[in-house]
Amino acid sequence: EIYYQGMFQNRTVEVTTDPSKLEKQAKDAMNHKAFCYIAGGAGERATMDANRLAFRQWKIIPRMLRDTTNRDLQITLFGQTYPTPLLFAPVGIQAVFHPDKETGVAKIAAELKVPYILSTAAASTIEEVAEASGDGSPRWFQLYWPQTDEITISLLQRAKKARYTALVVTLDTWALAWRPWDLDTGFLPFVKGEVGNDVGFSDPVFQRIFREKHGKDVKNDIVTAAVAWSSDVFSGKAHTWEQLKVIKENWDGPIILKGIQHVEDAKLALEAGVQGIIVSNHGGRQMDGAIGSLDVLPEIVDAVGEKLTVLFDSGVRTGADVIKALCLGAKGVLIGRPWVYGLGIAGKEGAKQVMQNILADLDQGMGLSGIGTIANCNRSMVRKVQYPG
Ligand code: FNR
Repeated sequence: EIYYQGMFQNRTVEVTTDPSKLEKQAKDAMNHKAFCYIAGGAGERATMDANRLAFRQWKIIPRMLRDTTNRDLQITLFGQTYPTPLLFAPVGIQAVFHPDKETGVAKIAAELKVPYILSTAAASTIEEVAEASGDGSPRWFQLYWPQTDEITISLLQRAKKARYTALVVTLDTWALAWRPWDLDTGFLPFVKGEVGNDVGFSDPVFQRIFREKHGKDVKNDIVTAAVAWSSDVFSGKAHTWEQLKVIKENWDGPIILKGIQHVEDAKLALEAGVQGIIVSNHGGRQMDGAIGSLDVLPEIVDAVGEKLTVLFDSGVRTGADVIKALCLGAKGVLIGRPWVYGLGIAGKEGAKQVMQNILADLDQGMGLSGIGTIANCNRSMVRKVQYPG
């Protein structure tokens, strides 16, 4: 189908179909600082490398003579059915990549029926994104967990009211990591107040607290407000498992903890009574030297996979990567940098093309591996191999 019908015959190629060229295309198209913000990672980018090495070392073992003509990519998460196993990873301050920003990407996510996960560090408000995504379109909210409970509760109430169906709580970014590419370019717009705090700045509780403390309105001193917001959200002080209570009491739907790497933390998540986890190292943007995410996925699935919904991200670039994560037990896969590059190259349509390319590659790869439905993905179809050199 990819070659014979529609898609490629009349396609205007804007975004490369070659995953290994995407980053370069984005680099050429984008503002240098914004590109570095996406492509950079923590420290010497050793965790980013590990994410890719892990994918290279896990190999697929395809099955033959199976009828996979009518492939079904559908998954069910928390009682909702989605046509594909992909999700848009939460990504902050999308206005710095393209003016289409969060509202634009939420629109194309709705067109693809792929869940859009809105970041707390966003350049559009919770309500604007809900409106852009439209009634009934899958949207989740990602919480960067503020220190001030009153603000946390307000954000959760707004997300509930705007009908975000699931809550992703990111645990690995209570402090921003040492990110040399951003430090060298001086690019931290959400801390400097240049762009990207619309979720916070539009929050009535944050506005009130700011007014009480500074004797002026947020809109009259964006720079001070940005520092106040960022230091509450990226406070340098980690929350504790006990504090999850506040979130559980104020959110009705599924709660998914993002940034789980250690199997013991996965077990604690289960004990804490959340519904899901995302095995992730934030795409190598937080703890440099951390293990490649894919390598911890099997042990975590073995420990909690029957009771918790285990999702995965970090380093996914191709359809084959998605298959590997699914075979190792992930129930859904978040895509990060690739669509952000697409957004930088050609706006929301660029982001859409990247997701469509990964989906087409995944669909084709499932067929070629003898996998007719996502439920057919299993451990017997992957093996870790270390080729020398
Ligand atoms: C992110 N990520 C992220 N995660 C999160 O929970 N909230 C956020 O606001 C952001 N912001 C963000 C910005 C940019 C530019 C990138 C690249 C990433 C992390 C993201 O959700 C995901 O975990 C990683 O991107 C996955 O790794 P890959 O696919 O980029 O390798």
